[in-house]
Amino acid sequence: PTITFRQPDGAELRVDAPVGTSVMKSAVGADVPGILAECGGQAMCATCHVYVTDDRALPPVSDEEDEMLDCASAPRTGHSRLSCQLVVDEDMDGLTVLVAGEGP
Ligand code: FES
Repeated sequence: PTITFRQPDGAELRVDAPVGTSVMKSAVGADVPGILAECGGQAMCATCHVYVTDDRALPPVSDEEDEMLDCASAPRTGHSRLSCQLVVDEDMDGLTVLVAGEGP
């Protein structure tokens, strides 16, 4: 599936994300700026924070993810997710995620 990563400045990078990997890993593999993923996908750093406004079905936010999102440097919104907790599946083809980055 192809996932588009959009930066706060509007720049976009389209990434071919393999099914079964995390959205975070796909981003890191493609050198998408702003996805630091310091903890390597353990839901312990919040540096993989993204906003997903597309209302297609995503897995629910776990308690771990919920707690960590409160620590993200960019503002948390109702669209905030940790990209390391999103496992790529075919339904994500065409999904656009907004990289939260460092925030204001
Ligand atoms: Fe650290 Fe996602 S990579 S929380």
